[in-house]
Amino acid sequence: MKLVGISGAIIGSKTAKIVDEVLTRAKAYGPEIDIELIDLKDYLVEMVDGRPLESYNDDTKNVIGKIIDADFFVIGTPVYQASIPGVLKNLLDHLPVTVFESKVVGYVSTAGSSHHSLVAENQLRPILSFFKAIVATKSVFVPNDSFNKESQIIDEDIDRRLTELSQELVYLQTKLANT
Ligand SMILES: Cc1cc2nc3c(=O)[nH]c(=O)nc-3n(C[C@H](O)[C@H](O)[C@H](O)COP(=O)(O)O)c2cc1C
Repeated sequence: MKLVGISGAIIGSKTAKIVDEVLTRAKAYGPEIDIELIDLKDYLVEMVDGRPLESYNDDTKNVIGKIIDADFFVIGTPVYQASIPGVLKNLLDHLPVTVFESKVVGYVSTAGSSHHSLVAENQLRPILSFFKAIVATKSVFVPNDSFNKESQIIDEDIDRRLTELSQELVYLQTKLANT
C-alpha cells in the first residue's frame, strides 16, 4: 500500500513540511506502508493545454504516473489569495477523473491568517468529492504562527491533530484493502 503526499506549493516550504509530517506519522502507525512525498517545487509540471499526456515533459508525466499508481493520498495546500494555488489546481486538472475514485484522500492546509482556515474545506474538499474520493473526516489547518523559526510545529493541538489525521488515513486504507 502506497501513501503519496502531494505538496501543492512552489514558493515556500511550510506546506511540504506539514505533508511530510503526515507521511512520517502514517509510516510510524503503519510500518508496512510505503510513503512518498511529491513536492511540486521539485518538478516542472506544465500547464494543462489540451495535449495528450504523452506530449508533456517528463516531470509532468512522472508526477501524474506516481499519482495514478498510488493507493491513498494526503494533499497539502497553502492558501494563496483566499484560494488554493494555481499550481495545485493545474495538477488536479491534469489528472484522469477516476484517479481518486474510491481511494482515501486527506488534506492539510497552511496560511498566514486563521481567517482563511476554511479555504481547503470550501474549495479543495468539493474538488475531491467531484473525483469521488473517500475524503478523510479529519483535516488540519496550520497557520504560520504554529511554526517556530526552525520550522518545527510548536502548537500542541495541531501536533495531535496531524497524528490523528495520519492514523485515520492508514485506518481507512487498511479497512478498504481488506474488504
Ligand atoms: C501569493 C501568496 C498569496 C497568499 N495569500 C494568502 C491569503 O489569501 N490568506 C492567507 O492567510 N495567507 C496567504 N498567504 C500566506 C501563505 O498561505 C502561507 O505563508 C503559507 O503557509 C505558505 O505556504 P508555503 O510555505 O508552502 O508556500 C499567501 C502567500 C503567497 C505567497
